[in-house]
Amino acid sequence: MPPFDLPRLRSSPYVAALEHHERIGSTSDRALELSRQDQLTLPLLILADQQTGGRGRGSNQWWAATGSLTFSLLIDAQHLGIAGENWPVLSLSTGLAVCEALEQIAPGGDFGVKWPNDVYCAGRKLGGILIESPSAARGRIVVGIGMNINNSLTDAPQEIQAAAVSLIDYLQRPLDMTGVLLHLLVALQTRWLELGLAGFAAQAGEFRRRCILDGRTLQVSSGPRLITGRCLGIDDGGSLILQTESGREEMASGSIVSME
Ligand code: BTN
Repeated sequence: MPPFDLPRLRSSPYVAALEHHERIGSTSDRALELSRQDQLTLPLLILADQQTGGRGRGSNQWWAATGSLTFSLLIDAQHLGIAGENWPVLSLSTGLAVCEALEQIAPGGDFGVKWPNDVYCAGRKLGGILIESPSAARGRIVVGIGMNINNSLTDAPQEIQAAAVSLIDYLQRPLDMTGVLLHLLVALQTRWLELGLAGFAAQAGEFRRRCILDGRTLQVSSGPRLITGRCLGIDDGGSLILQTESGREEMASGSIVSME
């Protein structure tokens, strides 16, 4: 049985156009390619049953087995009211929305966000977010999301099992992939519109409530710097606050290299 009910997805008010691939290298590569076209109906959802060359942040790859959810949304930031100053926090807003959708699907589940672009479940990574916007895309942003949903990790290598989790293993039941995606689309639209209207400050409290980093010792790389400190939280502008040996550091962007 195909994993997605495409007519149901096409009838969602949150998707203006849908391109479905049974197999593709990367949905985000495809979205970036399309973003250069003049005439586009947005938001455009690029959805794959199977993604063979998924990319993560930096030079990371995104491994996706059958049953994982991989898609990219090509959006018009201006249409959503998201001004340039809020683009850097779009990954935070997106992570929060993903978490909220998961809470609706599995009430009481242990879901959290890890600044700046990961979604966690019970201490392990459930999903990742990749935001890209090439200059040629004229205000268009590609939001790529990969999540472990129906791909059990029970047979995955030990290091993957230790770091990652899939919803099917956590909940002990398979999920309706179309239903999951529809929940995500509603939650994303809600948080993105709010971001456009009121900025990240309006959702920072909810992000903080779900942030898994508070009090932990982190190593964060930001440009050429590698900074170690205890996480004091996330501020209203979306910056990560660290207490380091030499004082307080606020980081607007970066990647967490390690956390204890
Ligand atoms: C990360 O954790 O570093 C981000 C992972 C993002 C993976 C998704 S899967 C769908 C979309 N297509 C890609 O090639 N990457 C993103």
